[in-house]
Amino acid sequence: MRINSPKLNIMYKACMKASKSLIRDFGEIENLQVSSKGPGDFVSSADKRTEKIIIEELLKAYPDYGILSEEAGQINEKNKTNRWIIDPIDGTSNFLNGIPQFAISIGYEENNIIKIGLIYDPIKNELFFAEVGNGAFLNNSRIRVSKKNKLKHSLIGTGGPKSSSKYKNEIFLEFIEISKNIDSSVRKYGSASLDLTSVACGRFDGFWQRELNYWDIAAGIVIVKEAGGYIDYVEDNIKESNKMNLIASNSLIHKELMDLIKKNIEKN
Ligand code: IPD
Ligand code: CA
Ligand code: CA
Repeated sequence: MRINSPKLNIMYKACMKASKSLIRDFGEIENLQVSSKGPGDFVSSADKRTEKIIIEELLKAYPDYGILSEEAGQINEKNKTNRWIIDPIDGTSNFLNGIPQFAISIGYEENNIIKIGLIYDPIKNELFFAEVGNGAFLNNSRIRVSKKNKLKHSLIGTGGPKSSSKYKNEIFLEFIEISKNIDSSVRKYGSASLDLTSVACGRFDGFWQRELNYWDIAAGIVIVKEAGGYIDYVEDNIKESNKMNLIASNSLIHKELMDLIKKNIEKN
């Protein structure tokens, strides 16, 4: 593993420690699946357990750094210069259903710019990471976005809408519109961070999703960019103030995907 900075090293250690507990918890899900109560409460405590380990490890190394984490919220709020952005389990509903597609995502931000991203899929043992200026990696190998240059022939991922979304209908219409313009059907794998790593290593040619939280995508943004991909945000009428409407793709289909989404917005 080419870990060449102290911060990335700390992120890696925190993530590996947390992933051991996460893998053990995932092993329990199958038993709980068939119980009448189901695994709901167990998963939410697994989420918190994982998060606690990550936060403890990061604070041990950098006690003053700020943290934004999905379950714990803000820690050391005053520090706006150095901040960790954490999603302890991205893909909770997969985890809950015993589907092995979820990840730990940790980003490091300096002066509001994401500098380092680390996303770990503990089941496939795939560690994605990137640091600004140093390229993106999957385990020991350098990764790059795909070279597909026509949207029609591309494999595109998406997610959502959430059941609480005010814009469910618009989002479904957009899904249909994009599906009509590509040969393969759109993939919905249920973990935005892994969708972004899929773009970074060329499994997907592109990904778009509305109403994402910052912790879903912080680490993925730098990984995609360092793999040569483009990241864009669609500002439009179906925007929630604190949510992000994101497009990530290789540079060659980016305009086509962006134009199609914009055209669809104008129609609705
Ligand atoms: C969710 C996943 C999912 C995306 C949702 C996210 P969670 O995160 O990333 O793919 O469609 O918008 O909220 O809840 O599993 O951490
Ligand atoms: Ca998430
Ligand atoms: Ca989560």
